Amino acid sequence: SAEGTPDVSTAAPAQTKQTVSKDVTILYGSQTGNAQGLAENTGKTLEAKGFNVTVSSMNDFKPNNLKKLENLLIVVSTHGEGEPPDNALSFHEFLHGRRAPKLENFRFSVLSLGDSSYEFFCQTGKEFDVRLAELGGERLYPRVDCDLDFEEPANKWLKGVIDGLSEAKGHSASAAVPAEAPAGTSPYSRTNPFKAEVLENLNLNGRGSNKETRHLELSLEGSGLTYEPGDSLGIYPENDPELVDLLLNEFKWDASENVTVNKEGETRPLREALISNFEITVLTKPLLKQAAELTGNDKLKALVENREELKAYTQGRDVIDLVRDFGPWNVSAQEFVAILRKMPARLYSIASSLSANPDEVHLTIGAVRYEAHGRERKGVCSVLCSERLQPGDTIPVYLQSNKNFKLPQDQETPIIMVGPGTGVAPFRSFMQEREETGAKGKSWMFFGDQHFVTDFLYQTEWQKWLKDGVLTKMDVAFSRDTEEKVYVQNRMLEHSKELFQWLEEGASFYVCGDKTNMARDVHNMLVEIIETEGKMSREQAEGYLAEMKKQKRYQRDVY
Ligand code: 2AM
Repeated sequence: SAEGTPDVSTAAPAQTKQTVSKDVTILYGSQTGNAQGLAENTGKTLEAKGFNVTVSSMNDFKPNNLKKLENLLIVVSTHGEGEPPDNALSFHEFLHGRRAPKLENFRFSVLSLGDSSYEFFCQTGKEFDVRLAELGGERLYPRVDCDLDFEEPANKWLKGVIDGLSEAKGHSASAAVPAEAPAGTSPYSRTNPFKAEVLENLNLNGRGSNKETRHLELSLEGSGLTYEPGDSLGIYPENDPELVDLLLNEFKWDASENVTVNKEGETRPLREALISNFEITVLTKPLLKQAAELTGNDKLKALVENREELKAYTQGRDVIDLVRDFGPWNVSAQEFVAILRKMPARLYSIASSLSANPDEVHLTIGAVRYEAHGRERKGVCSVLCSERLQPGDTIPVYLQSNKNFKLPQDQETPIIMVGPGTGVAPFRSFMQEREETGAKGKSWMFFGDQHFVTDFLYQTEWQKWLKDGVLTKMDVAFSRDTEEKVYVQNRMLEHSKELFQWLEEGASFYVCGDKTNMARDVHNMLVEIIETEGKMSREQAEGYLAEMKKQKRYQRDVY
């Protein structure tokens, strides 16, 4: 076994030894691009240190090559109920299957991204970590699990990995190198967001709709920020001041008292800090754990230890509920904010093309409002956009590239787009781009929402693209206009012959929007259509889709 076995090259001359262990492979599994960004930065840093680095998506890595590796770094995120990102699925399955090789002279380390408000926090990273060790790998640095605010732990991991790799080479430990990306020409990034001015903020839904979908236009002028269709914009929102005041009312604190808001020791008046710097609408296990320690409340301590009850309690509740339900809170404002999570950014798929709208970025944001535990709950960012953000205001943003959702390189390639509800956003961007560049490829849009009259998002734009031939075909499914519900996948089925024909011609297939129901059902329908029209078995149809995925002809941006 690899463990405890001395490196055979220990006695070899330094040079041989260096060439042997200087190779590092970095594999990422990334849904939103954070893991990919970190993997690429890690690669750049290690390259600068003289390592031979290969960075690749897990999808693009040939698992049979795993045995040949000596140093493997894994950067992977976790989604929903502990699921791997799409582009990590096949590698994850391979590692846990029969074909997984025994690993010898194999060293690895895992950087795991997640969100502690989910029960299965960093689950995928944990699974890779455990499995690689089971197969005989040796940890060159212990796994690091990151919450939404990942910069600091990711830096710690990178530093540890450099030391671990250097030890293997017989070199002295290296100094820390920041993980921050040299992000193109713009000085703005996730950690240094640009304050974008709001140019336009409209409700896309008509009167009487059950929905409110905001169309936001922001200015990137002077930022140097650029993006491509398929990329996302991160927004740092503010909490609802009413909610903050509700929270402040629970305490006897002075709202203007200064509190520390970050590790750099920056201070701000309490009310401002609660509006801008901290998350107060989500309950996480680490937060409840610290709250239990702070209050000494036994009921809360017991809750934290009970998986099921913890999950049930945190569902639909916020920090105000926590403060009301458990106490006594004989704590200072400073002690209290110290247990809160830093305000996380929200990512939205961009709805515009930069070439069609120089210096602008457009978003399509569904306002989230619902009732839970006797109080109206509001989505922090979406309701900020709907209720308070005015043209002329500014909002902190950054760009996040998404290499897994891109128009085909070849402009002649036909594209099929499925984007009900706010899933329409990137396809507006695709159409603007194809119009702007005069792309000749055919295009087919499937859109769906509740009602034709009130919810046909960007209706006039779609009609114009159809008329001008930028868009070849459009099929719509308004689910609540008819007795029986029709969804986008029903429209796909009605046109299954033609749809399969397009796939055979090499069309790329894109899906954006709801992950749990829509994207799953659309996927199943796609398999069914390929099976029937291609006269294949279920396995063959799935293979056909897997092949499309490999060729980047089946791409999803789902949430
Ligand atoms: P519904 O809300 O009437 O059920 C955008 O939200 C559109 O997606 C709505 O018309 C919504 O219909 C529809 N939708 C809901 N569940 C879906 C699913 N599983 N597959 C496809 N579309 C769905």
